[in-house]
This record gives sequence, C-alpha cells and structure tokens, in this order.
Amino acid sequence: MQQTLAIVKPDGVARNLIGEVVARIERNQLAIKAMKMIHMSRAQAEGFYAVHKERPFFKDLTDFMCSGPAVVMILQGENAIARWREMMGATNPADAADGTIRRDFATDIEKNVVHGSDAPETAAFETGYFFSGLERN
Ligand code: CMP
Repeated sequence: MQQTLAIVKPDGVARNLIGEVVARIERNQLAIKAMKMIHMSRAQAEGFYAVHKERPFFKDLTDFMCSGPAVVMILQGENAIARWREMMGATNPADAADGTIRRDFATDIEKNVVHGSDAPETAAFETGYFFSGLERN
C-alpha cells in the first residue's frame, strides 16, 4: 500500500471544486486516510515548495498557495502516487488528457486545481509536512 499527498489548491477551493475532487477520488477507490483544510502561511508554502525555490515561478506559486484555504489529504492504495497523478492530468491543463481533473477544470499551469506527490521520496516528505504519524494510520 502506498500513500501520497493530494491538495485541492486555493483556486479549486474558491471555485467550489472540493466535492468534485473528493468524488473522483472515491470513485477511483483511493482511500482518504486523512484530510483537513488549511490556510498556508507564506513560510509554509515556501517550505512545501522548497524544491522549486530557484525556479522563475517560485514567487508567483507561493503567493498563490497562501492566497486562500486549501484542502490537504493523504490518499492510500496500490500504486496511489501514479493513480492520483493520472487522475490529475499533466501540470499544464493544455497538455492534460481528456477526463482528467486539470483538463476539466484548470485554467492555467499555475492555477491547476490540484497537486500530487511525484515519487515515493516526495510523498514521504509532503505527507509528513502536513500530517503527524497519528493522523495517517
Ligand atoms: P504542482 O504539481 O503543485 O508542482 C509545482 C507547481 O508549480 C505546479 O503544480 C504548478 O502549479 C506551478 N507552476 C507554475 N508555473 C510552472 C511551470 N512553468 N512549470 C511547472 N510548474 C509550474
């Protein structure tokens, strides 16, 4: 069993897409092991995306991520990391496959509704960033 971090980003929350995203997760039989709504501080957003800190989009991305509440979740299942990434679609909604969350709802590469861990090491860091061990059993 694998765990991954999923986020409904501030654009998704503002556009009332929490229910839609959760419904898709449930339909795809990924277990929601933990879930909460948070409003990230700038420091929390910068720490979460530290891997991108040299990228040109870092400032805009972290501004956006602390601009409003987001929903963070731990999803669990066989191959959960890849399955959640497949449901999200490509980072840029223009490249995302039909039927994916980003294709159906995202407006641009930054405001792309959802986030998912990209590998087991990042999933371990990202799930641990928002949830304690007690919250994810
Ligand atoms: P996410 O999967 O959360 O990981 C990094 C985020 O940076 C990405 O989704 C996008 O929302 C954002 N981003 C903004 N511009 C770019 C870009 N040019 N390339 C990749 N990611 C970008």
